[in-house]
Amino acid sequence: MEKINIALVGYGNVGRGVEGALKLKLNADTELVAVLTRRPEQVRKELKDVPVFHIDEKTGDIQVDVAILCGGSKEDIPVQGPKFAERFNTVDSFDTHADIPSYYQKMDSIVKVYGHVHVISAGWDPGIFSLMRVLGDAFLPQNKQYTFWGKGVSQGHSDAARKVEGVLDARAYTIPIEQAVQRVRTGETPEFTKREMHKRLVYAVAEEGADIERIRMDIATMPNYYDEYNTEVLFISKEDMRENHSKLPHGGFVLTSGVTGEGNKQILEYRCQLESNPEFTANVLVACARAAFRLCKEGRKGAFTMLDIAPGYLSPHSAETLRKSFM
Ligand SMILES: NC(=O)c1ccc[n+]([C@@H]2O[C@H](COP(=O)([O-])OP(=O)(O)OC[C@H]3O[C@@H](n4cnc5c(N)ncnc54)[C@H](OP(=O)(O)O)[C@@H]3O)[C@@H](O)[C@H]2O)c1
Repeated sequence: MEKINIALVGYGNVGRGVEGALKLKLNADTELVAVLTRRPEQVRKELKDVPVFHIDEKTGDIQVDVAILCGGSKEDIPVQGPKFAERFNTVDSFDTHADIPSYYQKMDSIVKVYGHVHVISAGWDPGIFSLMRVLGDAFLPQNKQYTFWGKGVSQGHSDAARKVEGVLDARAYTIPIEQAVQRVRTGETPEFTKREMHKRLVYAVAEEGADIERIRMDIATMPNYYDEYNTEVLFISKEDMRENHSKLPHGGFVLTSGVTGEGNKQILEYRCQLESNPEFTANVLVACARAAFRLCKEGRKGAFTMLDIAPGYLSPHSAETLRKSFM
């Protein structure tokens, strides 16, 4: 079997998930050949059986077919995307939704020059949920769509709460409002405000002697993060945080509610319930790396989103097996 040689750029939560996914028997067509990180000394202590390089080093004679970029969307990917797409076919999970169109344009022009394929914004949202929104909209042209997220940890909101004075640690959960989900599931098509669709629950560890009520207020009224939602802040101990809030669960639903014919209601629902958001995202990135490799083999070049990739390209199974067992 022809192996797809994968390099991993960045060894955080998603990076670790990719490393785990590449060990699976079903991904036997892939092999992790190198890890590039800003912290090679530290990462080498964890990864004994894979060559680990500094992010600015060349990988020598190790052949890399696809590099999976696992850095953060805010600061890492905008720099690492252009840098690595010059050298390799690449996949990233850039998730700043509003900037995806401009990021696509930029990457498309770069990778076309170097003759590579770059899959941008892969994951579950953006990624699978984007696909479900497009499919729902295509199959039910007269529709209204809803995306609910959670219950899950929002890393951006957790970081924001951690910056409040007197907060030692914080974990923010996004929770869909059950009544809103039920209204859509039963065929209503309301206009919701943000507050009507989701609430936020923040677990915080406060510094000793900190003003609890001021912290609660500072979090709940924080513009762009919390002020448009009902937010509950619960104070817990460091031990409770470590024991009960160290996982990164997430998920959500994409609902397309439409009508056909003389007003027949049609509702499509896709749900993700993820005990580990980064591990699942990592598995999607590996499937997209396979697709990038296959697209490149066909002589395609440029930037792609998951909307541009036919499902068979993502699968480890042959087209014959897919027709026989999955149709
Ligand atoms: N599209 C989707 O559905 C989806 C879903 C989930 C996540 N994402 C994206 O994936 C991105 C990465 O998420 P993540 O959870 O893997 O973030 P993360 O754990 O914070 O890792 C991001 C980067 O930080 C560095 N890092 C990790 N641990 C470190 C440490 N102990 N000290 C210093 N640096 C460290 C790593 O780079 P170095 O190894 O080079 O230091 C790593 O690549 C997110 O920003 C988000 O954009 C997308």
